[in-house]
Amino acid sequence: MTHTIRKAVFPVAGLGTRFLPATKAVPKEMLTVVDKPVIQYIVDEAREAGIEHFIFVTGRNKGVIEDHFDMAYELEATLKSRNKTAELELLGAQLPMAGSTSFTRQQAPLGLGHAIWCARDIIGDEPFAVLLPDMIMRSKKGCLAQMLEVFRATGDNVIAVEECEPDMAHQYGIVGVGEARGKAFEITQMVEKPAKGTAPSNFYISGRYVLQPEIFKFLAMQEKGAGGEIQLTDAMLKLMSRQKFWGMKYEGETFDTGSKIGFLAANVAYGLSRPELSDGFRAEIERLLRKA
Ligand code: G1P
Repeated sequence: MTHTIRKAVFPVAGLGTRFLPATKAVPKEMLTVVDKPVIQYIVDEAREAGIEHFIFVTGRNKGVIEDHFDMAYELEATLKSRNKTAELELLGAQLPMAGSTSFTRQQAPLGLGHAIWCARDIIGDEPFAVLLPDMIMRSKKGCLAQMLEVFRATGDNVIAVEECEPDMAHQYGIVGVGEARGKAFEITQMVEKPAKGTAPSNFYISGRYVLQPEIFKFLAMQEKGAGGEIQLTDAMLKLMSRQKFWGMKYEGETFDTGSKIGFLAANVAYGLSRPELSDGFRAEIERLLRKA
């Protein structure tokens, strides 16, 4: 069994209806937090954790994501001729190595489990990571890097979890809490979008997974779950009868950019933390707060 994670899947086929009209022609993953598209934060987290191959499960109208992770030859030639070295360096630093990205399409919106299953051939027979693009995780050591510590110690499946208010549990996948091991615990139960008052705990699955390739056997069954969708949580629950799952208590901040409040909060937090913006931005926020 290998204890290295080389590949990560980014399911980016979602329609982004919550952000219409912005997402009519622009994928929601390309909306910007300060000056970087949301998906760039997620890919950077994966890269920082040592991921070598970035697999995007896309859909119609998502072509610009592929362009974003390609070299912009004409733009770079123009920047070079104008001696714009800082901008060139910026573009160079975010460019994935040639051959290290793959794009495949989820042809119909059948659920997260189905999206991950679409990556099965590109993953092959090795453990891999999944990063949901809505969640920007801000922490000193990235969330996936934190999870890989648990993975290297156990060799099992690892899911990042965080605590939510009990009355919010019905919006998430929720896990049952077993024996602790450092900052992780053994997962005893999993349920996607539990009915109010039935959640096994208030630890929710927060959008980062390290999974063994056996998950694809269960995803292949394509059984529908919560919301009539093929759910990753249901396939993980089935795999749990054969393999261990650890919940890793993520240490850091999370911005759910799939919600408007989370998206705006991410812009404020990242804006304030940029040295060249923080003073002016803080003054502007304070002025607006005084007026509000
Ligand atoms: C998905 C997962 C859920 C998880 C959530 C985190 O749900 O299915 O288990 O808790 O992401 O954001 P979605 O937000 O797509 O409904």
